Amino acid sequence: MPPILLAHPLAQDALSVLRDAATPREAFRAALHRIALLLAAKATERLAVAMGPIVTPLEGIDAPRIADPLPCLVPVLRAGLGLLDGFQTLLPAAPVAHFGAYRDHATLETVEYSFAAPADLAARAAIVLDPMLATGNTASAACARLKANGVRTISVACVLAAPEGLARLAAAHRDVAVITVAVDRGLDARGYIRPGLGDAGDRLFGTS
Ligand code: URA
Repeated sequence: MPPILLAHPLAQDALSVLRDAATPREAFRAALHRIALLLAAKATERLAVAMGPIVTPLEGIDAPRIADPLPCLVPVLRAGLGLLDGFQTLLPAAPVAHFGAYRDHATLETVEYSFAAPADLAARAAIVLDPMLATGNTASAACARLKANGVRTISVACVLAAPEGLARLAAAHRDVAVITVAVDRGLDARGYIRPGLGDAGDRLFGTS
């Protein structure tokens, strides 16, 4: 399925802050947080609600609340952590499953090293948090891991996607929805998204 584009002007503005090589780390983190809030709103707009009784200061009514079970948030370590706080702001009770994978810079293949998930994961939908959908290998591996653990409904929330990554993910997991702020031109020889924003994890955590 085609990606869902987050066209919101605040998201587009924050993306430009992320892209700018002169943006310092604090401003980078803050812009990523703003995007995460907007992505979280978009990714959850079809969540089921259940009516239940509440009592206002004046009378009792039936009012909508988000139905259980809440989706599980799945940040891909480590750059996905930059989106987690924004998603947790809107879904404070959602459980979190950390998916640890790194990209082998020689082969560009994904190597999984950790997966820690709640016991009731199979009963939940999952939202994978991965700012950069580059080759699509890591997101595909995360989706495969979630499906192997019984998850049936998965979406991937990212900031930037490359056409190659979208194609790769769609080929492996055609049922997975992708929400992204932009789709860039493509990947370079090192697997970076162009024009992109550089290495999201390095810019977030001050490594290089
Ligand atoms: N991961 C990043 O952080 N940046 C890219 O451009 C590609 C993958």
